[in-house]
Amino acid sequence: MIYKVYDNTDELNREAASHFEEVLTSVESPVLGLATGSTPVGLYKELIKLCKDEKISFKNASSFNLDEYVGLDAAHDQSYAYFMRQNLFDHVDINIENTHVPSGLGDNDKVCADYNAELEKHVVDIQILGIGSNGHIAFNEPGTSFDAVTHVVNLTEQSITDNARFFDSIDDVPKQAITMGLKNIYASKKIILIAMGENKADAVKMLIEDAPNTDAPCSILQNHDNVVVLLDSAAASKLTK
Ligand code: GLP
Repeated sequence: MIYKVYDNTDELNREAASHFEEVLTSVESPVLGLATGSTPVGLYKELIKLCKDEKISFKNASSFNLDEYVGLDAAHDQSYAYFMRQNLFDHVDINIENTHVPSGLGDNDKVCADYNAELEKHVVDIQILGIGSNGHIAFNEPGTSFDAVTHVVNLTEQSITDNARFFDSIDDVPKQAITMGLKNIYASKKIILIAMGENKADAVKMLIEDAPNTDAPCSILQNHDNVVVLLDSAAASKLTK
């Protein structure tokens, strides 16, 4: 795992975008692993710019999103399906048929089984990740097995509180999500993880300095041989090494 610390978040986002650009311009049918939350928004803006400038194209790309809230349909403005259309898909030349976000409204067990089956047919070339303040990646909360595949998760109080800022009230935050498992994420060829802000500093310390353990789901990434971590100085502020 390599990590870089930036004073300037525009530079950080440009660096993240350059890794996607490399994949999009060199792989014939690139498979992208995509994330939601506030963290990847700057990266998506850079990718939209690169696409408008015709430096990259998503025409031959397909994508898999990490997760979705249970109970929100794709038209709900806080669903991750809606987020992806707003922040990326509607602004680039991707074929929407080739994008995958698990459905929050189906039969959960079937949605998970179908998503795993689809993931088994593809290898993600590049995965973008944020990180939860408790060290979760996607919605793999502390205690999740490193062998977990796509599953339904009961969100922790911490994750519900952290995400309440996007909803009218904390009671509106869904209590469950469908998430790719750590094993699915680990199967990506390359992983770019971005963390910004002081409230991510403890999670970043777990990610980089804790021995791999299931209480820190992000720590699984230490075993992966192609992970780039991009941090702002606040997120890196608790690193000791
Ligand atoms: C969310 C998502 C994660 C995301 C994390 C951090 O709950 N499930 O994929 O990385 O929490 O979100 P943010 O980037 O808004 O801080």
